Amino acid sequence: MQALNVKCIGLPDVRNNFPFFRDNQRIYLDSSSTALKPEPVIGAITDFYLQAGSNVGRSNHQYAQLSTQLFESSRNKLACFLGCSADEVIFTANCTDSINLLAHGLALGKGDHVVVSPLEHHSNLLPWLSKCRVSVARLDLNGCIDLDHLDSLLASDPAKLVAVCHASNVTGNVQPVRQICQIARARGALSLLDAAQTAGHIPVSVGQIGCDFLALSGHKMFGPSGIGALYMRRDLQASIQSYRYGGGMVNKVQHGDISYQSGPGRFEAGTPNIEGAIGLGAAVDYINGLGGQWVQDHDRDLESYFRSQIQSVRNIEIAFPIASQHLPIFPLVPVGKVDIGFVSRILSDRYDIALSSGYQCNQPLYRNSGIEGALRVSMHLYNTRKDIDTLIMALTDLQDLLA
Ligand SMILES: Cc1ncc(COP(=O)(O)O)c(C=O)c1O
Repeated sequence: MQALNVKCIGLPDVRNNFPFFRDNQRIYLDSSSTALKPEPVIGAITDFYLQAGSNVGRSNHQYAQLSTQLFESSRNKLACFLGCSADEVIFTANCTDSINLLAHGLALGKGDHVVVSPLEHHSNLLPWLSKCRVSVARLDLNGCIDLDHLDSLLASDPAKLVAVCHASNVTGNVQPVRQICQIARARGALSLLDAAQTAGHIPVSVGQIGCDFLALSGHKMFGPSGIGALYMRRDLQASIQSYRYGGGMVNKVQHGDISYQSGPGRFEAGTPNIEGAIGLGAAVDYINGLGGQWVQDHDRDLESYFRSQIQSVRNIEIAFPIASQHLPIFPLVPVGKVDIGFVSRILSDRYDIALSSGYQCNQPLYRNSGIEGALRVSMHLYNTRKDIDTLIMALTDLQDLLA
């Protein structure tokens, strides 16, 4: 795909790709919750409805063929994005669905052991707690998973799986995932990476990371809602149970004689989210068109600019330590007792600034730190330094309220 015309950091060209910003001064700082959608993604979904509109993998007419082709081509795009084969990409509804598919598929018993980190979103905690025994690896002083502690935990109590986030949706700290996966493998455990926050920000190449499974959500990387993916190493697939049963997953069924498809089909019973997958494929094209390096440079610029500017605001602090590799995600806590939901509402109503307030589905991290949620600023490629300036101006206006 040809590179889009993006000349330097922060140029409004990128912003113009997002109809959400048309003819307004909106400031969207809630991308960790969901990313906005660029024109090519919206266009790909509309085109599907206009040109193909049919189900996939079922009928033989030209429209069904086109639908199937577009759907499978999105799987290929995602496979290239993840550095794996297309038959290792399972379409799901979202990151949560991917993790639940695996939690069910591993057939865990109450005695089985899974290791997570204190940073996990409820989606990478509750599925494991509902199935088996869960231990929590410690964090080091920089807010990253303590590798020595992880290793000793696995040595003393072998686990079936280490399931951790690639980057925290609260702190923004990118985790040392290659080392984590190496340690897991050396101790006989499988590894699952929750890449909900990193896909679309930094490379998520499963080969380089060395994970066995990787989960992501399409809507956080500019795709539509309701589509996600699970990378599942090919040689592990036969040992994973299906989560749901129905149409599209069998080669033959006659009474008790059932032969299931191999590969993703076995995990994708029922009509899939076809337009979602096609939109996600367009999102991958969009990211590739900008260039991963551009996205990372832009992130770094926003990240360091925010850190330099927030220091001038009184009565508000960044809640957690910042690690050496850090996404432009900042949980801010007022020093006073003001309700953060109220502050976020003022930011929205008075300044048209959208950010998250609360626990961001990560209650254990906040509660164990004695913090009752935060105002989370999370940025992506359509944000600019000007957005940060406006937020800083607004927080400066509200300084007395934050005390
Ligand atoms: C790190 C992380 N994991 C999982 C999820 C769940 O994503 P979804 O709600 O799209 O399934 C999120 C959503 O914020 C997240 O940030």
